[in-house]
Amino acid sequence: MTVFKTKKELQKFALETRRSGRTIALVPTMGFLHKGHMSLIDIARAKADVVIVSVFVNPTQFAPNEDFDSYPRDFERDAKMCEEHKVDVVFAPEPSEMYDADASTFVNEMMLSRPLCGASRPTFFRGVTTVVTKLFHLAQPDFAVFGEKDAQQLLVIKRMVRDLDFPIEIINGKLIRDEDGLATSSRNRYLSQDERQRALAIHQSLLGAKAAIIADPGKIDVALHNAKAVITAAGGRVDYVSALDTETLEAPTKKTRRLIVAAAAFFGTTRLIDNEMFDL
Ligand code: PAF
Repeated sequence: MTVFKTKKELQKFALETRRSGRTIALVPTMGFLHKGHMSLIDIARAKADVVIVSVFVNPTQFAPNEDFDSYPRDFERDAKMCEEHKVDVVFAPEPSEMYDADASTFVNEMMLSRPLCGASRPTFFRGVTTVVTKLFHLAQPDFAVFGEKDAQQLLVIKRMVRDLDFPIEIINGKLIRDEDGLATSSRNRYLSQDERQRALAIHQSLLGAKAAIIADPGKIDVALHNAKAVITAAGGRVDYVSALDTETLEAPTKKTRRLIVAAAAFFGTTRLIDNEMFDL
């Protein structure tokens, strides 16, 4: 396994790989890898000749009041896990390598990035689409794998790839849960034992809402109200609990075939997200 720290090295490697006729799969990450990431890497491994994993805590997707500085980092551990999962290249640049100090070009998706996390984190998706565009140009992948845990991010990236004609196939990886039901996330590291126990209410609230909506699709509002109450009763502070059409991320209509019930909530100072997607 090779570790590249510079954009030049990665792009040279990627172009040579493509010229030699081998396919590339990219898994973009912010490191502090867990079994959710590993499932994405395994999908990439099965799909392409060469697997590239980027490990980069991207400053442009954090607002000034967010956790960029404290975001968990452990590169040695990440590299070991990548090696165990037969990754070919890890790309781990410093922020100053990735962005020139006077960088002034950004990529913006203007529809799907508005609701849910985009409403409470207005610059988040701009940072994601910008860094993912840069990673696509550097790693030149045929395939890129993103997890359904970040369902809105996945939709935004698919829309960007469609709208800007990137010759890349985006592959979904299933949301992976720990045994207790908590969605795997690098931010789970912030939770105290007590907070972690209480945070299980997020998934429980989504399962309750899903069951209620399937039983009576006419009463989505009641289902969402009850889901919020479950999180609040567990001591969580709800950012949103919403049920939207998975294609438009707008309120469901008669045409809606698949629904996402998504939640974001704070336990202590940690903001967690989770979702359930299902056919109507
Ligand atoms: O999902 C993440 O970890 C990040 O948003 C991504 C896609 C690696 C971009 O920084």
